[in-house]
Amino acid sequence: MPTTSSGQSVRALGGLIAPYETRFERRSIDPTELVIGLNTLAVSVHQASANSGDLGFDLLLDGWDVAPPPVVTRGPYLQRVTATSATLRWRTDLPASAFVGYAGPGETPTWVFAPSSTEGEVVLGDLQPETRYEYEIAGSGFVAGGDPDHVFETAPLAGEHRPLRIWVLGDSGTGTQTAASVRDAYLTQPGSEDTDLVLMLGDNAYLRGTDLEHRAGLFDPYASILRSVPVWPTIGNHDALSISTPLQSGPYYDAFSLPTAGEAGGVASGTEAYYSFDHANVHFVSLDSSSSSSQPGSPMLTWLTADLAANAADWTIAFWHHPPYSKGSHDSNSESWLVAMRTNVLPILEAAGVDLVLAGHSHAYERSMLFDGHYGASGTLLPGMVLDSGDGGPGSDGAYQKSSIVPTPHSGTVYVVIGSSATLSQSGALDHPALPFAARSLGSVLLEIFGHRLDLRFIDEQGVTLDRFSLQKPMAHSPECSDSVDNDGDGATDFPADSECSDASDVGESPFSNLQLVDDSRCTLGGSSQPVPCLDEATPDLLETRQQLEVASRASEPADPPSLTLRLASIAVADLEPGSPIETRVSANVAVDYSIAFLVDVAADEAWQLVVESDWRGALDIVDDDPGTATARVEPGPLTGTIDSTGQIYAGTTALLAPTPLSVSAGSGDASSPFDRRSIAWSDASIGPREVRLRFRASPAVESTCAAAPCAGLEAALRSGLAGTLPGLSAGSYPGAGTRNPDDDGHFVKATLLTAPEPAG
Ligand SMILES: [Fe+2]
Repeated sequence: MPTTSSGQSVRALGGLIAPYETRFERRSIDPTELVIGLNTLAVSVHQASANSGDLGFDLLLDGWDVAPPPVVTRGPYLQRVTATSATLRWRTDLPASAFVGYAGPGETPTWVFAPSSTEGEVVLGDLQPETRYEYEIAGSGFVAGGDPDHVFETAPLAGEHRPLRIWVLGDSGTGTQTAASVRDAYLTQPGSEDTDLVLMLGDNAYLRGTDLEHRAGLFDPYASILRSVPVWPTIGNHDALSISTPLQSGPYYDAFSLPTAGEAGGVASGTEAYYSFDHANVHFVSLDSSSSSSQPGSPMLTWLTADLAANAADWTIAFWHHPPYSKGSHDSNSESWLVAMRTNVLPILEAAGVDLVLAGHSHAYERSMLFDGHYGASGTLLPGMVLDSGDGGPGSDGAYQKSSIVPTPHSGTVYVVIGSSATLSQSGALDHPALPFAARSLGSVLLEIFGHRLDLRFIDEQGVTLDRFSLQKPMAHSPECSDSVDNDGDGATDFPADSECSDASDVGESPFSNLQLVDDSRCTLGGSSQPVPCLDEATPDLLETRQQLEVASRASEPADPPSLTLRLASIAVADLEPGSPIETRVSANVAVDYSIAFLVDVAADEAWQLVVESDWRGALDIVDDDPGTATARVEPGPLTGTIDSTGQIYAGTTALLAPTPLSVSAGSGDASSPFDRRSIAWSDASIGPREVRLRFRASPAVESTCAAAPCAGLEAALRSGLAGTLPGLSAGSYPGAGTRNPDDDGHFVKATLLTAPEPAG
């Protein structure tokens, strides 16, 4: 309710939507306001709008002679998670103090005290990067967390290359079943449990951004993810109806703890209305198109210019609410907020080399090609502004190519409107010339970053991907000691940790005439044990991967054949010079699902051919506590290599052939067996540098059978390049059925680039 007026004609600031219109909201009355004897409690009920069709009210008055226990009514939820700190928030209906405990793997919990308040907030400091922490809030009269659902992971250090998964929602704050269907379509996608960040593009709490609407549209429906993943918001026009940005007050500001002093990276903005932060190799900028001036010389644009000038991240992503281009339920030709952002903000962003802009407000999905310099109305888009008119699709026109890793002025930007995460509008033709890819569909966006590649997918409320594109930057084929990055994947920043880096400006780790995927400790080359230069681009946690891989397969029930669903998602990159083969070996893996990328630069008119030789050597092992009763066999699946070259997919299959079928009996173990070698070749006549990405997959099915049940501890493992025993197996005193030699075993790939012979004469 407004605090400045009363009376029957006064409208409530916000209304209630289902299910909140039939729920009790708990309020407490300060006992000191009561008098001995008769007390009168007066309540007035107001409509939020004159044409609302219903009005209901019910009241339950509870009296307590002791203080009732507080109830958690919001959260807990994560805010401002950096590499070394995190902010944890929660709300209770009554003031309560709390101790917050948090612990990384194997750590004794650290406890932090939160003084009595209904708005609980603690900053957890001295955290380790990329570390998973469990937390628990032990409050005065309540407990929250302390279970596997209440965990979070700190960010990678700024600049590090890590696979990132970001969920982007626009205009999501209705709390309706429609919003829930979009939410569930994302949360049931494979890998959604590994989401690193949530971006909300404004109108996070319909209809007026009230406190209760933040609960109904944001904190309740997204509670399951917000307790583990930090949300980074921006202010929508609906959210702005209940706030004062000059005073930094109101439900939006109450709900979020956002960086104002550059504490998450970037330049200090001095306000929660707009801010920036770094996460791994991405710089994010959140602008306020709803309640802050976007005029030239305004504080926001002055700060934005300074922030981008200080930015050297691989990727720069800006987001705010009002789209600079849209022909959906809002028209960017005529609506002043949209026009202002386009004409005043875009020149700053594009001059600073921003890669991607995300906005909401129009209730549909609209997306541009790669372009630059289009600051007028929709009819002013000129061909020269379009840097790549393709769809950017990895399976069609190919990824949009950026010319440089570092922010480069006017190197092209992609603009995306995501305003249908809860409401879909039928108005607007969705025909903006700069936004040729549009869908009048509910949905949200999955944004993934793999080192120098950015993939964006629009996923509708059925879980179907309706649009996708990629942005590709040149690969870091010549890592330097000066970039404060662990280029060789050995877990330590190259300088000063690596002996190859004599000083911070040294580029001593190159060249990469040979390239190997790293194993968990070092790179090895062929039969040599000498460390060689290694590069692991977009490094996943290989230690973790290895642990997953070593589990291999297990069969507790003979009738339930184990499946191998392991993956090694490494990407290695290198320049591929004509005639100079690159050899790479993946050791310590069992099943194979990984990709290798090469940068191929072909001069004009040179046809080229890439020859790939591949084999896979390994063994099938079996262990049984009752030797002689169990057998295992493997039916090798195909090993498929796929080359994605300039948007064209070349696919071929090289056989992974053991002596078929490969089978062993318990006690025999170690059916070491080289698999067959095949070569595959592709050719292409297109010109210029491009990435060639090979993905190798094998899906061998291991089947274990038990002749004399029960076969407790029966386990079969298909191993490849795994030195030593298989740790973690439970059966008996299994010593390992032989020792794999990482120099002999593993998946070996040799790639040679050939160019066409010179024409005779
Ligand atoms: Fe809006």
